[in-house]
Amino acid sequence: MARAICDTRDAVKVADSVFWIGVCDRETDKFEGMWDLPHGMAYNSYLIKAEKTVLIDTVKGAYMDGFFSRLNRLLDGLPLDYAVINHVEPDHSGALALLRRLYPEVKLVGNAKTAEMLKNFYGVEGGFVEVKEGGTLDLGGRRLVFVTVPMVHWPESMVSYDETNGILFSNDIFGGFGAVEGGIFDDEADLNLVTEEMMRYYVNIVGRFSRQALKALEKVRKLNVSMICPAHGPIWRSCPGHVIDIYEKWSRQETEEGVVVVYGSMYGNTKTASDAIARSIAQAGVKPVRVYDASRSNMSFITTDVWKYRGLVLSCCTYNMEAFPPIAALLRLLENKNMTGRRIGLCGTYSWASAALKEMQAFVERSKGGWKLVDPTIDIKSRPSCDDLEMCGQLGKNMAAAVRDI
Ligand SMILES: Cc1cc2nc3c(=O)[nH]c(=O)nc-3n(C[C@H](O)[C@H](O)[C@H](O)COP(=O)(O)O)c2cc1C
Ligand SMILES: [Fe+2]
Ligand SMILES: [Fe+2]
Repeated sequence: MARAICDTRDAVKVADSVFWIGVCDRETDKFEGMWDLPHGMAYNSYLIKAEKTVLIDTVKGAYMDGFFSRLNRLLDGLPLDYAVINHVEPDHSGALALLRRLYPEVKLVGNAKTAEMLKNFYGVEGGFVEVKEGGTLDLGGRRLVFVTVPMVHWPESMVSYDETNGILFSNDIFGGFGAVEGGIFDDEADLNLVTEEMMRYYVNIVGRFSRQALKALEKVRKLNVSMICPAHGPIWRSCPGHVIDIYEKWSRQETEEGVVVVYGSMYGNTKTASDAIARSIAQAGVKPVRVYDASRSNMSFITTDVWKYRGLVLSCCTYNMEAFPPIAALLRLLENKNMTGRRIGLCGTYSWASAALKEMQAFVERSKGGWKLVDPTIDIKSRPSCDDLEMCGQLGKNMAAAVRDI
């Protein structure tokens, strides 16, 4: 007798005629080749089975196997009428070329920029329904409405709104790192972990585009959203309003009391200085103080805490006439994010010709007031002296006073 195969990764019903067919990635070490994934990653795709069948986004190419088997089972012989492409980044569009071959009749739905990108990434042309801002797709007695959200995350990014169920298919917006750990819905998941991973995704993937994110949130607030189905992370069915609020807080760059102390050190002298600064901040009663070694922590964790807390202290040694490369890389990442409303303290080290401090000072100057300098600025020759450590203590005290919630 033939053995019946049970696909335990079957589709999950999200709402009336809406199904989740996402996949989990626990193999990729670094998202976008840079950001650590200690909890993996989820690529969410959804199928609406109304009079017309509509796929919302696909998944990363490496995960097509389970994705197509579920799509096929769920369609159960029905044709696939449409595939909405909210965003062409390959973590969502990786399965598109094969989708086209498996379902040759499917019409792809996107905006003019989507069409151009599909051609350039996959050579996919034709069979395309172009939609504009506020455009709709008739599914037979119900509609999908499309809202463009340029630069959150790419120029062609858009979101799709199911009027009947009040579901927002938000793609990268409200997305987070982390694979599904059993819970597909917010009320089934570990919300502390989910929120941390969502913020880390926000800061590193979307952070630079915070002004555009605010504009997108304005548009989202005009819709009557009862559920958010993002392309990464859990489905927000119990508290969609809460998640919109915290996203807005991050986009506004609202900061909390706390200081991040990051050092770049080869032989420990710069580390000694930054430990003294951190100690002094803690003694002044400011919490939390987060100390990072720039050589050892993945930058995505550092940038997330830097986004969250009001103060940053950078300690950096000089290396071959320049700032120590891991700190130089951090400066570049932070500058790219156009951060504002922050306080910064600087401590350089050198042995014969100081260079690290100058690079950090230039970073502060280029921010045009986004980073306000806290005194004293310190430059240590080789190993911190007693006077140097006293200055470190003073910097810690001043930083604590500058970041304290009033
Ligand atoms: C490979 C290497 C390159 C360095 N390049 C410079 C330099 O260009 N200019 C300078 O003044 N000091 C330079 N230094 C000296 C360090 O900046 C200085 O000793 C500092 O105190 C080291 O801090 P650390 O103990 O935290 O690593 C270099 C040291 C090393 C090991
Ligand atoms: Fe993206
Ligand atoms: Fe994405």
